Amino acid sequence: MLNFNFQNQTHIHFGEGTISVIATEIPLNARVLVVYGGGSIKANGVYQQVIDALAKHTWFEFSGIEPNPTYDTLMKAQEIIKAENIDYLLAVGGGSVIDGAKFIAAAALYEGNSEGNTEGNSEGDSEVNDPWDILAKQQAVTKALPIGAVLTLPATGSESNGNSVVTRDGNKLPFSSPLVCPLFAVLDPSVTLSLSDRQISNGVVDAFVHTIEQYLTYGVNGKVQDRFSEGLLLTLIEEGPKALVPATKENLEVRANIMWSATMALNGLIGAGVPQDWSTHMIGHELTGAFGIDHARTLSIILPAVMKVRREQKREKLLQYASRVWQINEGDDDDARIDQAILLTEQFFQQMQVPIRLSEVDLGSKDIDLLINRLEQHGMTALGEHDDITLAISREILTKAL
Ligand code: NZQ
Ligand code: ZN
Repeated sequence: MLNFNFQNQTHIHFGEGTISVIATEIPLNARVLVVYGGGSIKANGVYQQVIDALAKHTWFEFSGIEPNPTYDTLMKAQEIIKAENIDYLLAVGGGSVIDGAKFIAAAALYEGNSEGNTEGNSEGDSEVNDPWDILAKQQAVTKALPIGAVLTLPATGSESNGNSVVTRDGNKLPFSSPLVCPLFAVLDPSVTLSLSDRQISNGVVDAFVHTIEQYLTYGVNGKVQDRFSEGLLLTLIEEGPKALVPATKENLEVRANIMWSATMALNGLIGAGVPQDWSTHMIGHELTGAFGIDHARTLSIILPAVMKVRREQKREKLLQYASRVWQINEGDDDDARIDQAILLTEQFFQQMQVPIRLSEVDLGSKDIDLLINRLEQHGMTALGEHDDITLAISREILTKAL
């Protein structure tokens, strides 16, 4: 096992009817900004529960954070933060809203580029202090407003990690800081009943791929991490499809198991002390940035191709995955067992109603150059657990995904 340090500060409140805890989780003297998306929380009653819980607080709201949140939208929140002296953010929504709140929280207290005057910035402090540098130049976050979260879409794990992904002019970039990890998160599985099938599928697939990216690398004898990961994968394979069929889709136990799996998949636990890959995500981000494809649907297209192109580097773990997750144990032909595990992964994605090829989202070989250029532009030239997925190998992966 590799050395690691692990801390997760998020206090989780899990279960039906738990939104009311925000009344006591947020200090009474806080000036709270409730941030949310396009209004699904008004239609499903979550907004009402939140404002009931905030009855004794001073609060304001900022809405309109879109899926794959944009810099332009998020920067608009800075006006109300300054005008109303906001000192606490409550994010109510899915990964986009929570990621958006993280950027808002860091941007509000951003003191500027440590390099001082940035090249090409002759217009003064506002340009030099552009919080976009947190993503574009990976400038450290040194302060951020505290964040609480009410999760409405199990998928990203954003409710209990320090990661955020923000888009500006088609450039979709991640940043990470423990300072933006939510202090508490409310996970009420019943609020997921209003999700469309498409969003349920996206969530299950995103959580599945998060687990895979921290598991399907090379062995370091991290038995606890491996078995936690296998438990999450098995749970998602078992419960995910149930959330799409009429007989079981309203079952709150199904929803609860999916919700907790998604949080556990990316709260730092299974990735501590083991190598991580993330190439599927980084290539996937370019597909979303350039073509607007849903995050999880980029992953279901790219992951099988990564498994195929990287089968030698991942051989040992692919065989473990075949055996422990898909129970493929018969026969001496290792390659046949790996092929079977990849096929079953693709069939699981198809059962979850997501695409597994670029052609299914109307993209073809003519689009690969653009994606490779963007990977290069974003510095994604040495991906994977060995930092050896070059642009040429990313091209091979994209070609395999056609
Ligand atoms: O805008 P609202 O009204 O909230 O509607 C949303 C949105 O249209 C809707 N929705 C959410 N909860 C609902 C609901 N509709 C009905 N009932 C509910 N209970 O679902 C739509 C999609 O929401 P979004 O937040 O975009 O989805 P998701 O949670 O999948 O988040 C995706 C974003 O997270 C990033 C992705 O790149 C993408 O930008 N990621 C964040 C990560 C992290 N912070 O660790 C890791 C991930 O790999 C990912 O990159
Ligand atoms: Zn993801």
